[in-house]
Amino acid sequence: MSRFVALEGADGCGKSTQVDRLAQSLRNKGEQVVTVREPGSTSLGERVRDILLDGDEPLCAEAEALLFLASRAQLLEEVIEPALAAGKWVIADRFHISTVVYQGIAGELGEERAADLCQVVIGDRRPALNIVIEISAEKIQERIDSRSSAGDRFESRPGIYDRTVAAFRQVRGIAGDRIVRVDGSGTAEQVAARIEKEVALVLR
Ligand code: TYD
Repeated sequence: MSRFVALEGADGCGKSTQVDRLAQSLRNKGEQVVTVREPGSTSLGERVRDILLDGDEPLCAEAEALLFLASRAQLLEEVIEPALAAGKWVIADRFHISTVVYQGIAGELGEERAADLCQVVIGDRRPALNIVIEISAEKIQERIDSRSSAGDRFESRPGIYDRTVAAFRQVRGIAGDRIVRVDGSGTAEQVAARIEKEVALVLR
């Protein structure tokens, strides 16, 4: 899915800002762009997001991963596939690499099992490029501490920042995934320029 890019990284890495910047830079070149966030961006996805992030009912590891995947399946069908078929770009704020990291490597499933579940549900309907914005655990902690809002279910897990930063460094995803790591330090402009360079290198 060649015009499909996912931005990935630990919480607080600046991903959402970069999704907007990348979308804007493509629009400035005359491209049509759809941005999506995960979990969410469909009616079902937003409800699943509430259960996953703000709910407090017990969730076993498999159920958790499958809820993320249910939201993703709906997003593919309702939004991503039609947009790509219409020649638009799709920029996703997280996609399956997050499941492999959070539920797999940093969670209880392990990388292989999480990647297998993703493969079963999404198959080849994957981003052509997964950009991981890398940032140190210390920097993330600083950014999170300065936020006013309370953390979600995942952010309140002990040691989660160290584990996810390390997991994003090593994640391989599903066989055939193209994962590029970009230095997330410096200004938003500098990071955006690095991301644009990778997109231009890989997808044009
Ligand atoms: P995100 O929307 O990036 O966080 P924020 O609301 O702070 O912008 O992601 C929500 C949380 O969900 C984040 O802690 C990571 C987690 N997550 C998973 O555990 N697995 C997944 O597959 C995805 C997409 C997100």
